[in-house]
Amino acid sequence: MSLDNNSARVALGTFLAGAAVLFSGGEAALADGSTTKFSLPPVGQGKDRCLFKSSAMGQANAARDKLYDLRECDMSGKSAAGFDLSGVIASEANFSKGDFKEVVMSKAYARSSNWEEADFTNAVVDRVSFDGSSMKGAIFQNAVLTSTSFTGADVENADFTEAYMGDFDQKNLCKNPTLKGTNPVTNADTRASAGCRSL
Ligand SMILES: *[C@@H]1O[C@H](CO)[C@@H](O)[C@H](O)[C@H]1NC(C)=O
Repeated sequence: MSLDNNSARVALGTFLAGAAVLFSGGEAALADGSTTKFSLPPVGQGKDRCLFKSSAMGQANAARDKLYDLRECDMSGKSAAGFDLSGVIASEANFSKGDFKEVVMSKAYARSSNWEEADFTNAVVDRVSFDGSSMKGAIFQNAVLTSTSFTGADVENADFTEAYMGDFDQKNLCKNPTLKGTNPVTNADTRASAGCRSL
């Protein structure tokens, strides 16, 4: 392994560990959905890395034996149902119409991606940042959405029926101007499904 790979791995490991020191800047940051800045390693080469792989070791704390990098991958329409995708770097990629039912996705970096009509029914989505992503028509029925953020994400037509989220996250979601519409699959009213108090 080259020194560069090593440094990248150390940087990501730190990001996943929860109290990251930014790779170049040296500022402290929390690795959860509300973090504003991450420093990511360079995008991995080759599309053979574009596969859904369940973590055999990480579970809730996102430990992986190596970098799980799905950046710039076209995963649209693919199924990861039941997989542990914890720690995945899933930005700038296409996950539209993907099957994420019952996945465990803890500490993932899922910004600026296409998650349109992705189905996260019964999933555990913990400390994930979907900031700036398109979540149009995504389904989060009965999902756990703890410390997961949708800042600047397009959540039109998404379904949050029976999703569990903390008050803070729910307040933020309710402030999202795109929280409207009706899910084309479940017919759920988006805003009502998120349990927002007022319109
Ligand atoms: C993503 O996948 C969907 C479904 O296959 C496709 O319609 C869309 O054009 C793709 N690309 C992007 C950049 O969203």
